[in-house]
Amino acid sequence: MKKIGSQVTIAIDGPAGSGKSTVARRIAERLGLLYLDSGAMYRAVTLLAIADGLAADSPKLIEQVKTCHIEFEDNGKTILLDAEDVSVQIRTPAVNRLVADVAKVPEIRHEIVKHQQRIGAEGSIIAEGRDLTTIVFPNADYKFYLDASVTERAKRRLADLQAQNVETTLASVAAEITARDEKDTTREHSPLRAADDAMIVDTTDKTIDEVVDFIIARVCESQS
Ligand code: C5P
Repeated sequence: MKKIGSQVTIAIDGPAGSGKSTVARRIAERLGLLYLDSGAMYRAVTLLAIADGLAADSPKLIEQVKTCHIEFEDNGKTILLDAEDVSVQIRTPAVNRLVADVAKVPEIRHEIVKHQQRIGAEGSIIAEGRDLTTIVFPNADYKFYLDASVTERAKRRLADLQAQNVETTLASVAAEITARDEKDTTREHSPLRAADDAMIVDTTDKTIDEVVDFIIARVCESQS
């Protein structure tokens, strides 16, 4: 097993609200890794579609994805689309509704995956999303699949939205999550699924810190 210090890749997949972004961000801080929020990249591309009123699978959008510049700053906290900070815009309900349709287009995935693999080659990384353990980093040193019940995931998302003063209900957040899960797990290209060699972690009754400690313990245990 590789030592943290040499180049290490930790890949995490899971559905919306499973806790993977917060968990991966904290592990990145604790272990000094680069953090890759792969969903943010699909969200940024979705903004391109919304800005120009383009259909998810339109040739014009596919062309734009090939030429646009998506970059992260501040270890994943800020995302720039063609040099504009879109970190807040990518989290709006309009993006939530459209992103899974954009993310199912194979040509768009192809461009984004290439970009993610280039970022992954830069150094030790923890990356999270829907196809990191299966497609983007199939040879990752550590693979985890985080899951939780729909109700628990909806409650977490509702708390996030309420903190941002967004008015919504548990039922509508649960419906949005369920619709996105359905699209992400049933699409033809790179559907969300647990890789055969991923460790499955049910986070329903766990705090973020418990999940973080669990993953760090698994990584460190295999180093000793
Ligand atoms: O993780 P997040 O909720 O920000 O992801 C938004 C959407 O982007 C997902 O619902 C999915 O459709 C898409 N996505 C993907 N592959 C990834 C990450 C995200 O298809 N690796």
